Amino acid sequence: MIDVQNITKRYGHHTAIDRVTFSVAKGEVLAFLGPNGAGKTTTMRILTCFMPATEGTVRVAGFDCADQPLEVKRRIGYLPETPPVYQELTVTEYLTFVGQLRGMGGRNLTSALDQSIGRLELGSVRHRLIGNLSRGYRQRVGLAQALLHDPPVLILDEPTIGLDPKQIIEIRELIKSLAGSHSVILSTHILPEATAVCQRVVIISGGRIVAEDSPEQLSARLRQSEKISVTLKSFPVDCNAKLREIPGVLNVFPGERAGMLLIECALGRDLRDEIARVVVSNHWGLLELRTISMTLEDVFLRLTRHEDGLPQQLEHTQATAHKGAPASQETAP
Ligand SMILES: Nc1ncnc2c1ncn2[C@@H]1O[C@H](COP(=O)(O)OP(=O)(O)OP(=O)(O)O)[C@@H](O)[C@H]1O
Ligand SMILES: [Mg+2]
Repeated sequence: MIDVQNITKRYGHHTAIDRVTFSVAKGEVLAFLGPNGAGKTTTMRILTCFMPATEGTVRVAGFDCADQPLEVKRRIGYLPETPPVYQELTVTEYLTFVGQLRGMGGRNLTSALDQSIGRLELGSVRHRLIGNLSRGYRQRVGLAQALLHDPPVLILDEPTIGLDPKQIIEIRELIKSLAGSHSVILSTHILPEATAVCQRVVIISGGRIVAEDSPEQLSARLRQSEKISVTLKSFPVDCNAKLREIPGVLNVFPGERAGMLLIECALGRDLRDEIARVVVSNHWGLLELRTISMTLEDVFLRLTRHEDGLPQQLEHTQATAHKGAPASQETAP
């Protein structure tokens, strides 16, 4: 339904997104997850024909964003980062105006209006001026606007921002209910949001895709040992350095107990065998060796941490992306 091939966006000398490639199937909900400035909004603006990519192609429902923007826009409901609401109109006036712009009228428009007002629980404020609404309600009006013409594709830029916890749950339920019949891309920098509502997560950092996975595979990845704790009987001065020499070991820290070391491993590498071999061959006295699961937050921070200007794991996940396979299939031991 959505096919993004190698899009790059440059603002002058600044590259906001760099060779981003992904696709969304019909009925799929995809979360676009990344920290501030990662390039989420830029990508969404290109997908919705709000602005062109510097390089690369985007097709939505078979139409090219550059050549047939009107056909693309007809099939998309877009909730921008700042909801495009008119302060001086009431909720009903604004949604009627949006419907008319979309070519709707008569009973069609009335029933679509009632449906989206109902879905977003806007009944109690439908005759109030948008300018007088709270931020959360304005966000809901923005969502109602995106859903009004029941488009097959929804692009939602941080849809739950500014909402109270009850509304967040309801909006997530609404998005889940769209799965199957609609293709949805939502952006967020909140991990639980991505895993709560979507079938697939694309993690973007510094304008590049650093991982792509299903929430289940992401969780599975977490269960694979990313940190290994070893407890040793003797603690020679060179043991830190020797452990660091093992390919795939990123760092070695002192643990919380005497004799304990925490060994940080490259994502997806199971180095237990190798670490045990080094400990035993050096006669350090292996008392305990176990894996420590990383939290979802740990993985996110690891994937989006920049070193030398490049996100970690980039080479690995890009290689995976080229093969079109989920990253976890590559990383599974
Ligand atoms: N109009 C513009 N001119 C110059 N640079 C821009 C422009 N719009 C965005 N950028 C830059 O492009 C990069 C990506 O920005 P973008 O808004 O896409 O990030 P984001 O992932 O949506 O972040 P956030 O979570 O803060 O909304 C940033 O470095 C930003 O400063
Ligand atoms: Mg943004």
